[in-house]
Amino acid sequence: MKVRRSVFISALSLTAVLAALSLTAVLAAQTAAPEGTASSSHHSGQSPGAGAVPRDSLRALASRVGLRIGTAVNTDALATNATYRQITADQFSTVTPENVMKWQLVEPTKGTYDWSAADQLVKFAQAHGQLVHGHVLVWHSQLPDWLTTGNYTPAQLRDLLRKHISDEVSHFRGHIWQWDVVNEAFNDDGTMRDTLWLRALGPGYIADAFRWAHRADPHALLLYNDYNIEGLGAKSDAVYELVKQLRAQGVPIDGVGLQTHLDTQYGFPDQMQQNMQRFADLGLKLALTEVDVRSTLPVTSTVQLAQNADYSQSLQACLLVRQCISYTVWGFGDAYSWVPGVFAGQGAADIYDENLQPKPSYYALQQNLILDTGAPHRDGTGVTLKLSGLTSGSVKLGKSVMVKGTVTPTSLAGSKVTLTVQKKKGAKWLTVESVARTISASGAYSWKYTPGKRGAYRMRATIARTTAHAAAGTAWRPFKVT
Ligand code: XIL
Repeated sequence: MKVRRSVFISALSLTAVLAALSLTAVLAAQTAAPEGTASSSHHSGQSPGAGAVPRDSLRALASRVGLRIGTAVNTDALATNATYRQITADQFSTVTPENVMKWQLVEPTKGTYDWSAADQLVKFAQAHGQLVHGHVLVWHSQLPDWLTTGNYTPAQLRDLLRKHISDEVSHFRGHIWQWDVVNEAFNDDGTMRDTLWLRALGPGYIADAFRWAHRADPHALLLYNDYNIEGLGAKSDAVYELVKQLRAQGVPIDGVGLQTHLDTQYGFPDQMQQNMQRFADLGLKLALTEVDVRSTLPVTSTVQLAQNADYSQSLQACLLVRQCISYTVWGFGDAYSWVPGVFAGQGAADIYDENLQPKPSYYALQQNLILDTGAPHRDGTGVTLKLSGLTSGSVKLGKSVMVKGTVTPTSLAGSKVTLTVQKKKGAKWLTVESVARTISASGAYSWKYTPGKRGAYRMRATIARTTAHAAAGTAWRPFKVT
């Protein structure tokens, strides 16, 4: 697939228009932004990220539409480089361990777990109001030697895989927002990849993996994750058929992760937004999980423009699909990128340069987020709200509405969710109820609400900023009382 880039010019002129907008003017028009608000100056003295996220940071801008902006984290750099640490905290609202949750690293010797590096990252995330994207439970790569050379029988491999998933998900229970449960199970032509797991267990290993993960942490969002499935094509068709079947069989899968490792020598994926929308139409969430845009070195100014366009367009595709809840880059600094080590002669794939200075691609993302006020609000906050008995969107006067929801991570158990009800009066929304409900040990909250009058209503759930968690909230849910 080597399509010429015709989309290129329009993306560039959009960038030019965006650049003309004054960031301050746009931000001044914002109200009640959950992160990076004008009130951030009141939080001076707190650790970065928890209370003082820069208001023009990627995470603050994205939070206005409920989108999470993530990065893969190199935990060695996080431990040793203060600038790296500061950017991770300031710019991103989720973190993915680039390596330290992989089987090879958590169980280097059979039966002996080492969670230390991953635990450190979870702690960092909590201190900076970030959610954690768990990566990865079932993969053919970065497996421990004892496993790949052990000559295990299919029955033994099944037990080992179940134990791995159960133990790892249980260890992090309540602290993981999304898990990559199965990674890269398909070939580019849409056939299933020949792996240890397929050979021993058959294609049913995928459904089993999701069931085992769900049992160990019922609140984590469970994803199928792969590359080259961003656009329409044989591989994304195959993944589409798989997840459609899994949904039909009641397998607990919540979404699809599109890795989005792009390369400027190829065209942008074919109809990315339409492809994402068909997954969304199955009731699935979407996450861009590993975005980077590599190029052959040295990078010319034309290639740099192509890179900006790829970052812009992938973010725009996510912003345009309401079920797209996170946009995660696979590391942010070129000095730490996996690209040069894997793709000979290529690099410069990230949004910060070798010296951790933001590149034009960083500003391309930032400018797209400044315009995100037009994008629909999404549930990328970790807070969900369900209004049961309201599937038709209306309720009879005198009847009650059961309001239910969950909060991720469940480490927020014991803190409060605020439920706000507004009623329409003329052209205005007036608050008629505001109640606080306590989050249970399993992350759930509920409220039995009885509206007092007929009319047009809306409700939303919000959680206030805590020392360990950013403020978050759902979109308004409209309903009628008749
Ligand atoms: C890569 C890491 O970035 C490298 O540090 C490591 O040596 C190999 O794995 N798809 C995935 C990621 O799902 O786990 C891979 O990460 C990149 C491709």
